[in-house]
Amino acid sequence: MDRSKKARQKIKVIGTVFRVILTFIIIIGMIVTITTAALGIFLVTVPDNILPDELNTRISDFIAEADKATTDEDDPDNLLENITLPSTPTNKEEAEEYFKYALKELIESIGNGRAESGVIFLLNTMGIKVDLSVKSLVVILLFTVSLFSVMIIVYNSVLNSMMKTLSKGERPFTIKAAKKLRRLSILMLLLVLIEPLTSLVLFSVTLIFSYLFEYGAYLQEKADETTRIQEEMIMSFAEVTENKSEQTGKHVRRVAEYSKIIAEEMGLSEEQVSKLRLASTMHDIGKLLIPADILEKPARLTDEEFATIKKHPGYGGQLLNNVEGDVMGLAKTIALDHHERVDGRGYPDGKTGNYISIEGRIVAVADVYDALTSKRSYKEPWDHEKAYEEIVKGSGTQFDASVVEAFKKRYSDINALRQQYADAV
Ligand SMILES: [Fe+2]
Ligand SMILES: [Fe+2]
Repeated sequence: MDRSKKARQKIKVIGTVFRVILTFIIIIGMIVTITTAALGIFLVTVPDNILPDELNTRISDFIAEADKATTDEDDPDNLLENITLPSTPTNKEEAEEYFKYALKELIESIGNGRAESGVIFLLNTMGIKVDLSVKSLVVILLFTVSLFSVMIIVYNSVLNSMMKTLSKGERPFTIKAAKKLRRLSILMLLLVLIEPLTSLVLFSVTLIFSYLFEYGAYLQEKADETTRIQEEMIMSFAEVTENKSEQTGKHVRRVAEYSKIIAEEMGLSEEQVSKLRLASTMHDIGKLLIPADILEKPARLTDEEFATIKKHPGYGGQLLNNVEGDVMGLAKTIALDHHERVDGRGYPDGKTGNYISIEGRIVAVADVYDALTSKRSYKEPWDHEKAYEEIVKGSGTQFDASVVEAFKKRYSDINALRQQYADAV
């Protein structure tokens, strides 16, 4: 029980950390998209001949050389190798070399050295002659970067929505999320046109994640199925126990609801509370093995008969011993512990204080309160206020003091439930 809670908490933390990182990337992506797109649009509106004539000529020369290098060697990076950078330009030629290098560096530093050649290559293949002015080169670069960061934003937003389910932690993995991730991986494959390496990395990572999500969803479904089967088994067991001794009436249901209220008040987790509510319905399962004439005896029990009744927690433990599942495991604990007393005078084992499970200590209070306020074959129901006093009196001896404290705090709810689930007279 604790293990699954810990795992879930870890998933929550991982989900939250990822979301912070992803949100940061999305914000950066937005800034890059807006700046590059705005700059690109601005450059389109600026006249071509805004640069001084001499510079324009130099740039065209550079572009021509770059173009030649690209065609000759089929490798745009070759150009860089041909350029030796003088530390400080001392004459016109050196300055020109320096300028060529600086422009190349600029293209590289935008972080997408392949972008311009990729786009231009595509346009060339489509038969569109590209005018390689610096302006159009830069505009293409800017829009490429802009488009690229839009893709990154889309990618991260989808991941962010996945991580949101992780950080909520309840049902982190779904088939829907797996399918979403698979579609996203195909979208990432399209990026190959702009940036092959990033595209392939994102494609593989996303695809792996999609299969992990699918496997997680499958495991979750299996776990749900196991829980459902346990619930069904428990409910039918509870019904059988109730039918065996008719006097118990709605006892099992009331004990479950009282236990739930007390556990909530004591700050047990939602999961613990719901498991306790279910498992508590089997606390008297051992009575199935007690002869009906003792259970239904309309008079005080003899010592011998009482000794037989006292065996029901142990019988319950044995009945549930080899049953799998955490709810069933808890049911066994409760069956064994619900007649133990914190002062060690309970049965079957005479455990004391915290050696008795917290669930057992809770059900003990719920069980006794209900037994007192209900009609039995040997007694009339007690007035609920008298029963309340009896529980309070037992605090620290028969009952755990903190359980009694929670019982007192939520008594109005418990009393309301008692009336709602009252036995038919
Ligand atoms: Fe019992
Ligand atoms: Fe009981």
